[in-house]
Amino acid sequence: MAKEMVIVLDFGGQYNQLIARRVRECNVYCEVLPYTKTLDEIKALNPKGIIFTGGPNSVYDETSPHYEKAIFELGIPILGICYGSQLMAYTLGGEVATAPVSEYGHTDVEVDTTSVLFHDVADTTVCWMSHTDYIKEVPEGFHITAHTPVCPVAAMECAEKKLYATQFHPEVMHTKEGMKMLHNFVYDVCGCVGDWKMDSFVETTIKSLREKIGDGKVLCALSGGVDSSVAAVLLSKAIGKQLTCVFVDHGLLRKNEGDEVEAVFGPDGPYELNFIRVNAQQRYYDKLKGVTEPEAKRKIIGEEFIRVFEEEAKKIGSVDFLVQGTIYPDVIESGLGKSAVIKSHHNVGGLPDVVDFKEIIEPLRMLFKDEVRKAGLELGIPEYLVYRQPFPGPGLGIRIIGEVTEEKVKIVQEADYIYREEIAKAGVDKGLGQYFAALTNMRSVGVMGDFRTYDYAIALRAVNTSDFMTAEATQLPWEVLAKVTNRIVNEVKGVNRVMYDCTGKPPATIEFE
Ligand code: XMP
Repeated sequence: MAKEMVIVLDFGGQYNQLIARRVRECNVYCEVLPYTKTLDEIKALNPKGIIFTGGPNSVYDETSPHYEKAIFELGIPILGICYGSQLMAYTLGGEVATAPVSEYGHTDVEVDTTSVLFHDVADTTVCWMSHTDYIKEVPEGFHITAHTPVCPVAAMECAEKKLYATQFHPEVMHTKEGMKMLHNFVYDVCGCVGDWKMDSFVETTIKSLREKIGDGKVLCALSGGVDSSVAAVLLSKAIGKQLTCVFVDHGLLRKNEGDEVEAVFGPDGPYELNFIRVNAQQRYYDKLKGVTEPEAKRKIIGEEFIRVFEEEAKKIGSVDFLVQGTIYPDVIESGLGKSAVIKSHHNVGGLPDVVDFKEIIEPLRMLFKDEVRKAGLELGIPEYLVYRQPFPGPGLGIRIIGEVTEEKVKIVQEADYIYREEIAKAGVDKGLGQYFAALTNMRSVGVMGDFRTYDYAIALRAVNTSDFMTAEATQLPWEVLAKVTNRIVNEVKGVNRVMYDCTGKPPATIEFE
């Protein structure tokens, strides 16, 4: 169990989990907690350091989040970032004001390299700014350690009290030496030794799952994807035979996928998961009949998953816990917390209001995809499973624009199969974050063998991404695209046109719905 912990206190910024993740990259355990945690609750966790996040507010807004001054007197090192820096200045008697010139994006910042925070950082370093307010006067006992031509206090500190603050965001990639700064804070200010690694996560999580579950029974929603597979194996290590994994074939899987998942996770595979496959294809097609709105489709699919799990739990009897492989981007994009809803990920925002389990356990909820993969490797899951491209829970349901029918599922399955086959043959799959075929709901006129056709258009997508929260369209070789197009129009009945999606995320998303 990791002994050291740094807390990220969440004041509503966009990058809160990213800060936590950067600290974990420094081999120090880190968790995000809401700013509503009391001082006693924070003290009880005995953190080595606390980081205040950014946030959209001004310290002067009536509704803006604040924290009691006593937190600065605990002797625990604190780093305030953006809004967090202004909050530190304001609470301790400095002055915060609207900046005459707002700064957004890359900014050259001059730093005082004698500050521990900027040890080994260049005198002038590119940082990422995003602010309208700024610190005009530092509180008593503080001095300025960085500035820009228009921001007099880009960083300040009171080394004696171990209080540090930056107006810019060290956690984002655009801050060139941000990792160094966080490393300096965690090691040289907080005095951490770095005793945390992914194996500590696995070990700690197994221990806490055992404590929570006791001798209770657990049903794990297993889709065969990376996240739920890691969650299932984690649970299996924690509670062994108390676990049952339910795999729902909702008829929206890729070609042959149901059988492939069963071969790996079923009774003939290497894992002891009490695997149950539920063939619920028709049930999903019936529910989705006539439904075209993406969020409505997601909600129906999400709800049906839960209903199937409830039915299976009843058959087993006395199942208290449902485990899902939810990861951090699922949570943030479903708009939980303060961010906007982008889409309701099936296992988060797509959940129905009433769920007949005592508790839902999501052991991977704070991890990013690449961290989940590291945890998977730690658990001994083979690389070919760990590095598989993600496949969303609602499956082809969100890769068929508009109404889902069995016929459309067949079309997109065949097209996708050809696409994946050709990508693999050409050896261009390495480094691709995700690639798939989707069925646009568009039909257009074509000509085949002297006959007019009026058929569907398939869209091909391939993206490069590591965090799945942003992505860029991959420049696939034209020969590969031409080959795939040729095969799809020749081999898949009902398709006479193929398009390639050149859009990044943002402004698009990776999936189509
Ligand atoms: P988007 O389309 O939001 O997708 O850019 C980001 C990543 O999340 C996956 N995704 C989902 N995964 N349940 C999941 O388990 C969902 O409801 C869901 N929606 C999107 C998507 O495949 C991509 O990897």
